Amino acid sequence: MKCRKCGGTAVLELRRHNAAFCADDFQEFFRNQVREAIRRHRMFTIDEPVLVAVSGGKDSLALWDVLIDEGYRTTGLYLDLGIFDYSVESRGKCEAFAAARGVPLMIKRVEEEVGAPVPVIKQVTRRPPCSGCGLSKRYLMNRAALEAGMPVVATGHNLDDEAATLFGSVMHWQMDSLPRQSPALASTHPKLVRRVKPLYRLSERETAAFAFLRRIDYIVDECPFAKGATSIAHKEILNRMEDASPGAKHNFLFGFLEKARPAFERAEAVVLNECVRCGQVTTGTLCAFCKLADQVKRSV
Ligand code: AMP
Ligand code: FES
Ligand code: ZN
Repeated sequence: MKCRKCGGTAVLELRRHNAAFCADDFQEFFRNQVREAIRRHRMFTIDEPVLVAVSGGKDSLALWDVLIDEGYRTTGLYLDLGIFDYSVESRGKCEAFAAARGVPLMIKRVEEEVGAPVPVIKQVTRRPPCSGCGLSKRYLMNRAALEAGMPVVATGHNLDDEAATLFGSVMHWQMDSLPRQSPALASTHPKLVRRVKPLYRLSERETAAFAFLRRIDYIVDECPFAKGATSIAHKEILNRMEDASPGAKHNFLFGFLEKARPAFERAEAVVLNECVRCGQVTTGTLCAFCKLADQVKRSV
């Protein structure tokens, strides 16, 4: 196998692109895909500070690595979910990464913000742990960015994540989620920062290869609550389709973004209010995060 760029020995074959690359040219390919995502969706400019939400996994640390090298002014945000050893280890990976590159890292503890860590929230709400966890993550990311005066939060969602989310939304025809599925969400209220996903053009296998070649030390284990999640089942189905027909995942997601998404955009704008308790944005009077915190407080 020869590198498409230099003709040297290739280390990675990308069937979806009908190409193979050597280690150096693969890294350049990877960075080009991130640059293209940022450019195409006008995610942020070189003058804007960017809050990078890092979980300690390969995707978000690979993203942070690229943005630092590209010269962006970044700050990391790690949300400590209090999920036993998993959180201790993933926090350690983020701290070591930030220290080695001399970049700032903010840490927020869900236990402090909500009143209990994710495993207790799971018991209190009797809902899948990911629902209270995802709600808290989205809320805290936005609030942390606002408080720090940063206009945009970047997450490490990759092509596989985005295709699996789309697959799940389509399976249930979730009409609220479909228009929100996008690599870049604009700010629709002064208290909502922009949310962007600069890795949406890159597969999980590609981010793993990039993290390996860049010698990024990341947490390999998944969150212990992720086992059996439907998103994992959807990823497996999409991977089987990808094996049979390289490019299937890409075509599914990009076809939706380019051709179908506009059809799902809501005609009427959603009315956004400020939560009477915390002042963050909600469609009601008390936001979902404050309701969750109340429920936790009553039970612990
Ligand atoms: P996940 O939902 O776990 O697949 O994570 C998707 C993205 O959300 C990651 O790539 C990160 O950018 C962000 N993220 C997930 N967990 C955390 C966390 N504990 N702290 C900060 N950001 C996170
Ligand atoms: Fe949120 Fe696992 S429950 S990361
Ligand atoms: Zn609130």
